[in-house]
Amino acid sequence: MVKLKRILFLTSNEGKLREAKHALEPRGYEIVSFADGTSKVQLVEVQANDLVTVALSKIEQAESYVGNMHQIDGVMVEDAGFFIDAHPSFPGVYSAHILKSLGLEGILQLMRGQKERGAEFQSTIVLQVKSERIVAQGSCRGRISEEIRGVGGFGYDPLFIPEDGDGRTFAEMTLNEKKALSHRGHAMARLVTLLEDLG
Ligand code: IMP
Repeated sequence: MVKLKRILFLTSNEGKLREAKHALEPRGYEIVSFADGTSKVQLVEVQANDLVTVALSKIEQAESYVGNMHQIDGVMVEDAGFFIDAHPSFPGVYSAHILKSLGLEGILQLMRGQKERGAEFQSTIVLQVKSERIVAQGSCRGRISEEIRGVGGFGYDPLFIPEDGDGRTFAEMTLNEKKALSHRGHAMARLVTLLEDLG
């Protein structure tokens, strides 16, 4: 395995990019992306019920983006999802689509009167380094708040109160606080361990 330094993170989600940089750059990895540059990444999301299948499909599509980028040591993709206990598998792999169509208010509406407010975030990261493929996963359990709170983060963050936190939503936390508790923070930490084990 080559000494990994520069990782291309294929995402057009600036929130994910910010969190990946925050988690990995202090560990000595440089994260580059098109999300903060000129062209947008257009990865097709396959129809599948699980994040791993979607993430593996994204990495298969990565080759066309890497092209002749000689300074890249590895390519990374992530598929993440939000899972509401009261609505099994929902929105899950359709999290981005559902948030766009219902909005946070729509999710609150869906949960109105609902006592069971448990929910979970999951993240699957796939890193390809030459012919090696590393899969790292993380999850975070919590509950859906009664109202929209906070301006940080992205996506469902203003509605999600992690169970190991102090009652604030992810959107009310700093990047550091969210990293310590979140699905992505856990998946990134696992990725670093796997990379260190590989030597
Ligand atoms: P995908 O991984 O690009 O399919 O996107 C999954 C969707 O889940 C995102 O567009 C967000 O709406 C949501 N999501 C994923 N991770 C987070 C997070 O850390 N906070 C809030 N929402 C998230």
